[in-house]
Amino acid sequence: MIRSKIAGIGHYVPEKVITNHDLERLMETSDEWIQERTGIQERRFGNRAEETTTTMGARAAEKAIEHADIDKNDIDFIVFATLSPDYFFPGCGVLVQRELDIASTEIGALDVRNQCSGFVYGLSVADQFIRSGMYKNILLIGAEMHSMGLDMTTRGRDVSVIFGDGAAAVILQPTEDSDQGVLSTHLHADGRHAEELAFISPGSHGGRYGEKEKYGFPDNEFESVFITRKMIDDGLIYPNMNGKYVFKYAVQKFPAAVMEALTTNGYKPSDLDLLIPHQANLRISQFVQRTLRLEDHQVFNNIQKYGNTTAASIPLALSEAVDSGKVKRGDLICLAAFGSGFTWGSALLKW
Ligand code: COA
Repeated sequence: MIRSKIAGIGHYVPEKVITNHDLERLMETSDEWIQERTGIQERRFGNRAEETTTTMGARAAEKAIEHADIDKNDIDFIVFATLSPDYFFPGCGVLVQRELDIASTEIGALDVRNQCSGFVYGLSVADQFIRSGMYKNILLIGAEMHSMGLDMTTRGRDVSVIFGDGAAAVILQPTEDSDQGVLSTHLHADGRHAEELAFISPGSHGGRYGEKEKYGFPDNEFESVFITRKMIDDGLIYPNMNGKYVFKYAVQKFPAAVMEALTTNGYKPSDLDLLIPHQANLRISQFVQRTLRLEDHQVFNNIQKYGNTTAASIPLALSEAVDSGKVKRGDLICLAAFGSGFTWGSALLKW
């Protein structure tokens, strides 16, 4: 039976470290508040003159390609997960193909728009392509340049202190080894909560959800706009989050997603060598750990250093766990995600 394995992994984070104390100079917040509520101590912000989501993704991809010991021209498909693309369109998939100088291969490039669950969704898609025999070397990237779209004033503090920039990538290949690879993936969504964690404008909604005046959309139906002066003036061009609401669902859906992955494959929480939860908030990860009665050594967190890097967070944590020697061949690893949409899911794999 063919399944996919992670043959190479790598990550890239920008050099610039932004501490909680740095944020204190921009908005009314405190290191104490941020650490107590989220566990975050610092995050990275990309260098605007040189870096984008695509370039960071490309740097991570180069490391994954080297780790997998393949030639970049062997890649036969690209999946790119992000909520902060360089352009509205085309997506980062084609841009990273060009950045890696493999565009002349004309391989397909797919963008995944599932926010914090983007990596798990992308992994599931890539896994199906490998299992079907269609592709043999898939490059899967999760990358975010959040710092380009955050309200860095007191008005946006509940969101902006949480997010950071970064990228990570994996190379997926087929394996027939029954003791290695992706055992299963599980994807879920509930669109009834779409606006509870969302980046609504600019967008093509045109006020159709009864909020025409709030966003300043013109009455003339042929006057087409994604962005209005009112959106800019009223600060409506930033992500918004109903923090308590998100927290409540996250602490239910994360454990459920992990249990679905384990029970499908005949395992229980104590069998896990490592749980890598999406790094949404350290308090959420700790809640999930307690719910599943996992030991400290069974859960990996690095949100303290990077904040929430959304689509990059799971592969960034996995890559650091691998680099630190925490992951051994044959280890049972669960990746679990929850975020905007709401979307959530999990993947169970043997390293
Ligand atoms: N610094 C200081 N004070 C802040 C602040 C900040 N960065 N952000 C908000 N506050 C204030 C609020 O204005 C509020 O003040 P008030 O009591 O005077 O009105 C107070 O702190 C409490 O705010 P509240 O939103 O109730 O805090 P909370 O305990 O819910 O924590 C989050 C806020 C965002 C940390 C928390 O809701 C959370 O983690 N939610 C999940 C978010 C998440 O994981 N998102 C990603 C999912 S993928």
